[in-house]
Amino acid sequence: MLINKKILVTLCLSSVVTLVALTSMKPDDDKGYKNLKVLPKNLTHEQLGKVMHEWSGSLGVHCDFCHVRNEAEKKMDFASDAKPEKEMARKMYKMMNKINQKYFEAKKDSLGMVLTSGVNCYTCHRGDSHPDAKLPERKGPGGPPAGAPAPGGTPAPQGDHKQ
Ligand code: HEC
Ligand code: HEC
Repeated sequence: MLINKKILVTLCLSSVVTLVALTSMKPDDDKGYKNLKVLPKNLTHEQLGKVMHEWSGSLGVHCDFCHVRNEAEKKMDFASDAKPEKEMARKMYKMMNKINQKYFEAKKDSLGMVLTSGVNCYTCHRGDSHPDAKLPERKGPGGPPAGAPAPGGTPAPQGDHKQ
């Protein structure tokens, strides 16, 4: 009997401890992410993780391309804006949303995020963090080969060639 009582007391105590632990965690969970300026503030961990993996994958980088590590605490500080790449990613996200809404008539999903029906990060980046903004080199000496369309789309003039 005494043993049973002890077990009962232990069980009661441990469930109280569990309850306290759960309730003390809850406010933290409710606060969610600390520094979302362009993404919906109520994203779940899973939803935010999906976006972050899409961005990393599209640029061919790891999380630390945009996020700094807190060396004192020995962990990533995802809320920090210390890396300029993070701010650039925000601008890119806004640009992408504008393009999709204005030119692809994109709707928003249930989270309020613009659907990437036209372009996404990968459309331009193709696994490269810094896509080349240069135009391709012209082929052949001194310009396009004979007969190739001129930049305007009209055929290059061909001397006395009659059309
Ligand atoms: C190309 C840049 C980029 C990469 C790569 C990236 N992130 Fe982010 N991350 C951001 C930006 C920008 C925000 C803030 C979004 C906003 O302002 O709404 C953010 C926000 C976050 C947050 C929320 C922090 C807070 O409390 O506000 C977490 C967590 C996070 N990222 C985790 C990750 C993880 C994990 C990876 C790697 C899988 C990753 N990120 C890769 C740009 C990036
Ligand atoms: C319309 C094409 C396009 C789209 C869409 C696009 N990017 Fe970019 N991005 C570029 C170009 C071009 C550059 C290089 C700009 C430069 O030369 O300064 C760049 C640069 C960046 C950089 C800076 C890289 C560096 O080396 O510092 C980040 C970060 C970035 N993009 C993130 C993103 C993310 C995240 C998305 C999706 C939300 C995205 N981009 C969508 C074209 C695009």
